[in-house]
Amino acid sequence: MEIKKNISLKPYNTFGIDVKALSFVEVTNVDELKAVLKDNNESLLILGGGSNLLFTKDFKGLAIKNNLKGISVVSETNSEIALKIGAGEVWHEFVLYCIEKGYAGVENMSLIPGNVGASPMQNIGAYGVEVKDVITEVEAFNLKDYSIQTFSNKVCLFGYRTSIFKTTEKGNYFITAVTFKLKKKAEINTSYGAIENELQRMSISSPTIRDVSNAVINIRSSKLPDPKKIGNSGSFFKNPVVSEAQKNRILEQYPTAPNYPQDNGGFKMAAGWLIERCGWKGKRIENYGVHNLQALVLVNYGGAKGSEIYALSEQIIESVKAEFGITLEREVNIL
Ligand code: FAD
Ligand code: EPU
Repeated sequence: MEIKKNISLKPYNTFGIDVKALSFVEVTNVDELKAVLKDNNESLLILGGGSNLLFTKDFKGLAIKNNLKGISVVSETNSEIALKIGAGEVWHEFVLYCIEKGYAGVENMSLIPGNVGASPMQNIGAYGVEVKDVITEVEAFNLKDYSIQTFSNKVCLFGYRTSIFKTTEKGNYFITAVTFKLKKKAEINTSYGAIENELQRMSISSPTIRDVSNAVINIRSSKLPDPKKIGNSGSFFKNPVVSEAQKNRILEQYPTAPNYPQDNGGFKMAAGWLIERCGWKGKRIENYGVHNLQALVLVNYGGAKGSEIYALSEQIIESVKAEFGITLEREVNIL
């Protein structure tokens, strides 16, 4: 466990932004974490897979790359299993492990980049499922008093791309493990339109969890850029939730605008659609821009600065506000 100085963070963020961290260390267990924190007086950044971050400047503190591994069975019945997963495990590898073992519940979230430890941060989700649907507990190291705390699902206050770890408790905890409850008998969820269509295209009528995973992987690969080839952080903005009156005003002008009713009476609008309508889709400015297949994804074609991508996101927010009266909120964490 070596604290390195002036390290490039380029390999540690999927946007591929070349900034430096004043100090950098990888930890593989809680004792190492405690040892690192004991003599530290620098500000902290916890790094998972770096797939939901935009660095706009050098990080003048200590970046801690989380490498806490391990999979253990917490409890098991004939119908369910509870697994505790180390925060540094790669999310998609965990999904593949579950598929291999026949544990259902995470297959719709196949191919989401990043680590298990970051999954509760913004309550990751895709294709009709959110991680809150399968999380029972989050274990975290309290960065103030060094205690280990366990948060039940309810206490995490999960919502659309949010939890207490991104809001009221931001910066207070290092998530060390997450416990998931999975089903041994699959309850296949293909209600999200694109999955049904993809399964039909694959000529599958009675899908297994592996089939659902493969369908999701196909859909995602067809429109989301692979960060190994083009730098990005997935959706840059959240899909905004608007009032019924506001949704109706937009539909008067654009009758085909995608919108999804929410439990609270609001309507989720597709930010990708709003951004596309404002003419941004596929727009390239030097070596960065808006992806040509998904307008919600900002991209670094190589060598762009985070501050340039941030400035582009400001312009997009302004134009969507001017056209639709909606203020987009960033999903990506800005540093
Ligand atoms: P990082 O980017 O390393 O960290 C994100 C934030 O969490 C930072 O603030 C960091 O400090 C904090 N953090 C990380 N680990 C810990 C920890 N152990 N304890 C405390 N804080 C921590 N997201 C979705 O929800 N759905 C999608 O479908 C989706 N698709 C994507 C597709 C692509 C191509 C890409 C690049 C990203 C996508 N994302 C998606 C976003 C991203 O994959 C998720 O947000 C993921 O959970 C981030 O994990 P990470 O380990 O890379 O976190
Ligand atoms: N759309 C457009 N133009 C675009 C992009 C999308 O018109 O350029 C339209 C689509 O045609 C569709 C609607 O917008 O009618 C929704 O598009 P899509 O199904 O691609 O999903 P999304 O809302 O853009 C969200 C999540 C993704 C997640 C997918 C699948 C957010 C912010 N994004 O994207 O999550 O993978 O649904 O469930 O909620 C992420 O968070 O990083 C992420 C990639």
